[in-house]
Formats: sequence, structure tokens, C-alpha cells
Amino acid sequence: MSAQNFAKRVTAPEITARKGGDPIVCLTAYDAPTATILDEYCDLILVGDSVGMVVHGLTTTVGVTLDMMIMHGQAVMRGARKALVVVDLPFGYYEDSPERAFQSAARVMRETGCQAVKIESGSYAAETIAYLVERGIPVMSHVGLRPQSMNVLGGFRARGRRKIVADEIVENAIAASDAGSFAVVVEGVSAELADKVTQSVSIPTIGIGASAGCDGQILVTPDMLGLFSRVPKFVKKYAQMEKIIRDSVAEYTREVRERKFPGEDNTYKFK
Ligand code: KIV
Repeated sequence: MSAQNFAKRVTAPEITARKGGDPIVCLTAYDAPTATILDEYCDLILVGDSVGMVVHGLTTTVGVTLDMMIMHGQAVMRGARKALVVVDLPFGYYEDSPERAFQSAARVMRETGCQAVKIESGSYAAETIAYLVERGIPVMSHVGLRPQSMNVLGGFRARGRRKIVADEIVENAIAASDAGSFAVVVEGVSAELADKVTQSVSIPTIGIGASAGCDGQILVTPDMLGLFSRVPKFVKKYAQMEKIIRDSVAEYTREVRERKFPGEDNTYKFK
């Protein structure tokens, strides 16, 4: 076991205790250098299955495998020392039975050293959450827009326009909270519905495309850094990474073609 595993990290109960307190800062990471930077600022780092779309170029998260999540989880754990690291269980590795969810989650925790997993929580999920928590696995739930179900939901549109759907989202969040989740991500719902969820559960809500009234916020890091020209409406771009990369690569290309790179500073001279 490496020394970094003994460093004091934020724990799942500490996140739960932040309900109604200072907003909880969360972002996603998929690699060690990014995790090292985020770790200075974030209470919680999520190794999201969004990795499939923003790193591997998939069109949905449905094709993400447990091995992919473990590889990225290991990288993030090498970079982060302080934040709580949560790894997503991908589609197809937890929904059919609590036992299967336990096998998947235990493997993720054993092989990455992360402290918790996240599952997208439909009405079927309460039994699984309780089963995992009783067996030592902290669970963060995810309600509202559940990207792994986009084929059933019909796309990535915001959820809860109809009352019956809005009520179901609140019920799913309450069930996830009562079953022992330490926090719940609320994605792609109206601010009003997100506030209702926040008031209805005893655990922190982590909003994404939700409301400033949630107990914390999360964004997909490459989205908020501006790596992509097209992002969901709820994303605020805090940087323009796509432009920075394009400008840098264009300058490098020009310098290589004009034999200006490598210059004196970038070459070895042995005396
Ligand atoms: O996969 C992911 O990055 C997520 C966040 C959007 C919450 O689930």
C-alpha cells in the first residue's frame, strides 16, 4: 500500500454532515494530473462514466466497461490525496441484483482504493443501495436525468416537466436517502424540482443542471474548461481550452515547418 493511502481524506460521512452547510465542491476527473490539481479545491472528485464520452469519444455512457472505470479510478487515486474519490458503476454492472452490484463495487474499491461508488438510481435501486451500505460500500445515488437510461428516456433532455415524472424523481431521491446513500446527484431538472428534492431528503444533494440551492455542485471538468464547442445549457465554461489547444498546436505546427522549433533552449549542447 502506498503512503498516499494513509493521507487524511474527506470521508463519506463528512460529506453527509455537510447537509445544509457550506456548499460541497465536486468535479469529475479521469487522470492523475487533473486529479492532482482538482484535489486542492474539491471536496469530492467523481470518476464519472462520462469518461466514455469526454475521453473515449463514445456517443453515450452505455458502452463504458468496469475495466475502463477501474483504469481511470486508479489514475485519479494516484493524483488525489485529500478529496473523497467516488467511482461510477457503469451500465450493466449493478442493475440486475444487489449481489452483482456488490461484486462490481467491491472490485472497483479493491483495485482502485477509491472510497465510494455512484449508481444511477431508479425505483429499483433502494434494495441495492442498502445491500451495499450494509456491506461497507458508501453509495452516492444519481436521480433526475440518468444518462445510462437515455435509450429509455429518449435522449439527454431535462427531466420532470410532467408532474408524474417530477414526483417519481422526488420519490427516487427519498428512497435512495432512506436506503443509506451518503449523497445524491440531481441532474437535469428544473431549479424548482431540485429545491424540492433538496428539502425532501436528509442527505446532501449535488446539483448538475439543477439549482444553486443544492447542497453542492458538480460539472464534467472538460465541459467546464471549454474543451468542447457544444455543451449542455447548464454548463458554464470557465476557460476556453479548445481555443488554447488549437492556438498552441497551430503555433507548434508553424514553428516545426519553419524549423524554428526546437530552438537553442530546447536542444542539448555537450561541452
Ligand atoms: O458521469 C458523470 O460524470 C456524472 C456526472 C455528470 C454527475 O455522473
